[in-house]
Amino acid sequence: MKIFDYIEEESLGKVISVDTTSVVIQIENIDKLRSMQVNRLVALRSSRAGQHLVGMVHKIIRKTLLDMTEEEIEEQQAINSDNTVRITLIGTFYDKYIDNLNVFRRTLETVPEIDADCFSIDGPKLTGFMNAISFQTGEEIDALSLGSYALDDEATAYLDANKFFQRHAVIVGSTGSGKSWTTAKLLEQVANLDNCNAILFDLHGEYHTLQDDGIKHFKIAGPGEVDDEKGFEEGVLYFPYWLLGYEDMVDMLVDRSDKNAPNQSMLISRTVNDAKRNYLNEIGETDIINNYTVDSPIPYSLSYVLDMLKRLDVEMVPGARENTTKQGEFYGKLSRFVARLENKMNDKRLAFMMNPPDAVLGWEWMNQLSEVLLAGKEHLSDQKGGVKIIDFSEVPSDILPLVISRVANLVFSLQQWMEKENRHPISLLCDEAHLYIPDNPNSIGNFEAAQKSFERIAKEGRKYGVGLVIISQRPSEVNRTVLSQCNNFIAMRLSNLEDQNVIKRLLPDNFGGITEILPILDKGEALVVGDACLLPSRIKISEPRNKPDSGTIDFWDEWMRTGKESVIDKAVKSWRLQSMQ
Ligand SMILES: Nc1ncnc2c1ncn2[C@@H]1O[C@H](COP(=O)(O)OP(=O)(O)O)[C@@H](O)[C@H]1O
Ligand SMILES: [Mg+2]
Repeated sequence: MKIFDYIEEESLGKVISVDTTSVVIQIENIDKLRSMQVNRLVALRSSRAGQHLVGMVHKIIRKTLLDMTEEEIEEQQAINSDNTVRITLIGTFYDKYIDNLNVFRRTLETVPEIDADCFSIDGPKLTGFMNAISFQTGEEIDALSLGSYALDDEATAYLDANKFFQRHAVIVGSTGSGKSWTTAKLLEQVANLDNCNAILFDLHGEYHTLQDDGIKHFKIAGPGEVDDEKGFEEGVLYFPYWLLGYEDMVDMLVDRSDKNAPNQSMLISRTVNDAKRNYLNEIGETDIINNYTVDSPIPYSLSYVLDMLKRLDVEMVPGARENTTKQGEFYGKLSRFVARLENKMNDKRLAFMMNPPDAVLGWEWMNQLSEVLLAGKEHLSDQKGGVKIIDFSEVPSDILPLVISRVANLVFSLQQWMEKENRHPISLLCDEAHLYIPDNPNSIGNFEAAQKSFERIAKEGRKYGVGLVIISQRPSEVNRTVLSQCNNFIAMRLSNLEDQNVIKRLLPDNFGGITEILPILDKGEALVVGDACLLPSRIKISEPRNKPDSGTIDFWDEWMRTGKESVIDKAVKSWRLQSMQ
């Protein structure tokens, strides 16, 4: 059955001007003009039989000069007409495409001719059109869907999940617009797949409510957990210092404004290298000795490094004359550096990294961690596989970028070192990405190495089966290189102008117009544009089965409640313990 069998009388008006992707229609009938709404769909008769160009209403101009801006008046006069509607062309609808009936494609093989008729896509035609689209993308049983179209809530909006995860995606929106719920909605569908593989960086522990066979929860050990020697089985993760690269160590330990900074960096490299060699000798891994670098993931003793630095700081060497000594090259130059390192080693909050349990300092431990992070659901036993939600809520914010980027980098490097045919694709979902993938690395304390590793994943991840989903309330503060590599956009309500502009610039040119709805989207509504979605559209995201625990507090309601017990003592104690008990 043909969906678009229009008759002449239904024509809204005729094309009076055309450029590459936009068209102006003149509408004489005032009632028909009134029925038009921005973002509704229209069909234009194409010069080829059996094809219709599909467009979206971008702007409606009625000639009441009083209401118009000067620019609009000029535009109006230029095309010399009264009531006009500007349309953005978005694709072509084929009554028959190769062997399939009713196919919509995002290509424009033709442009409409002057005087071509324009018809509204509404009522049963809209339903037919939406069904055709859903059928096209959603044939497979497990197709990814976030919700229904705002234009027609009967029609489910499907996404091409391959393209969505492969070509990176962003989910943006002001706080409270529904990003976390959307993320949950995505993940619950991912978790359903037999061999799913994804990691979600959960900064506030708000996703602990997501429970499913395919979901496994982990937490980076907080100060309260480090002494308990818990491990993967209990869902506790450590991220030892020996997995940091040289640049990370420098970023973390060296004060660049110190005049001894170059010496300190050089000594990190030298002593860590020595310590790694000692370890390799100890365990008899002699073939690795000839190939390792300061960046290789090889355990080593941090106390060895500390002792070495302390010694150099006070070292006396033989003087020029016999029986005399003089100060060594680094005498007194390392004191502050040593203090910094000692501080970090003793900081309870950093113990998951600087002072983890013994097992974490062993050779085999990296294999276990990698297994936990990279295994697909098929391998899901008690402690690994599937969708891994990692809670970073107790990681101090000043080293958060370093830790998260290292986890991401570990995943990326392993994928790189894996034989091509063995790679199992994995998606990294980065919630609150502005906190650790910032545009300006100085805003988070000089973690340039951390930032570079995300840029690298954004640029090369696709080749190695690593996809990014960047989630943020401040897209204007997220790294531009990373954002520019994303080809799918789920944009929820965005009230800040700067943030809106970032998204506008990222979208393909001809969609500039629809971003005007960004500030007026409802909670849980999104503008979805990109490779994965056939029709750029406003989508009402359906509720996830398990809702994230956003922890929003209703001030007024809480203030009205009586009989609440005092919890201050407990908070004071937790603060002192540096841990929620
Ligand atoms: N798809 C949705 N349908 C209905 N309500 C929603 C939806 N998404 C979000 N909400 C509401 O908005 C609140 C905030 O959503 P959340 O996802 O935590 O926002 P964000 O992560 O963007 O700050 C939720 O607690 C819920 O009440
Ligand atoms: Mg959120």
